[in-house]
Amino acid sequence: MTAKEYSEASERYRLLVEKGLLSIAERENGSIYPRLHEAMFYSLEAGGKRLRPCLVLAVCEMLGGDIEKALPAACALEMIHTYSLIHDDLPCMDDDDMRRGRPSNHKVFGEAMAVLAGDGLLSLAFETLLRASADTGDIGVLLAAREIAERAGASGMVTGQAADIENEGKQNNTLDTLRFIHRHKTADMLEAAVLSGAYIAGADGDTLAALRTYSENMGLLFQITDDMLDITGDPALMGKTLGKDAETGKLTYVALLGLEGAKKAAADAAENAKTAIRDIENSDYLAAVIDNMLVRSN
Ligand code: IPE
Ligand code: IPE
Ligand code: MG
Ligand code: MG
Ligand code: MG
Repeated sequence: MTAKEYSEASERYRLLVEKGLLSIAERENGSIYPRLHEAMFYSLEAGGKRLRPCLVLAVCEMLGGDIEKALPAACALEMIHTYSLIHDDLPCMDDDDMRRGRPSNHKVFGEAMAVLAGDGLLSLAFETLLRASADTGDIGVLLAAREIAERAGASGMVTGQAADIENEGKQNNTLDTLRFIHRHKTADMLEAAVLSGAYIAGADGDTLAALRTYSENMGLLFQITDDMLDITGDPALMGKTLGKDAETGKLTYVALLGLEGAKKAAADAAENAKTAIRDIENSDYLAAVIDNMLVRSN
């Protein structure tokens, strides 16, 4: 796949996602307390790469599914991801002032409203998913909802965030602990995205297994590059506070292995991700996602 084909496909997915999110914001206008609505959609509409929702659509399309049927799951994942960022930036968590090129949610709306904006986005995500499942009676959407609930929840992304916070500033941390954190805080949501698209397209067991390995390695790769960009990235391109991982003693790949070691770990994860999807037809876009992630600057 050429760079032009990759960016055109990504843009097509992104525009569908933006449209889906906008229609949810409009639908909910009037039923949500105005300041809360403003806080929720301030962060949701601030942009971001839309990686997770685009993956839902791309995987569904690759497997011959109906992309429109995958849109509610795509929007739900972006709402959950956005809630996780709002809470991640709170003073009691990473205490970061910038996100998606704007002041963090709590800097604008205050801590209480930022907590509530996160709560609101999380429940609205499941309302959106279950509404779509109930309206269509589609088992694929229901399977996606279950996957998202598991991977976003207490045993998934939230477990990763808990381990991240608990291990901050600790000595003698191991690679196993680090892998556990990255696996859950980041890879679980990416895996939920990829598998949701697959369930909605009615994928078979072998394809699901291959996509699981693919997305697990993609998650690792994505968080390793996030850790590297915290040191080497350009704040203007990243749109968020950088440079604090080392200061606060976060357990990251760079902290444990150095920049060169982290780079090698990223390359290994990229290789494993691409190998996993080798036998899936039309998987060029998914391979290009990995190639681009390896050299990303935002
Ligand atoms: C940031 O995710 C949180 C991590 C898992 C590292 P993204 O880098 O996907 O953030 P947005 O959605 O583009 O803002
Ligand atoms: C956060 O990881 C992952 C989430 C679940 C939000 P980071 O704390 O490294 O993400 P950034 O660097 O603030 O985006
Ligand atoms: Mg964090
Ligand atoms: Mg953070
Ligand atoms: Mg980070």
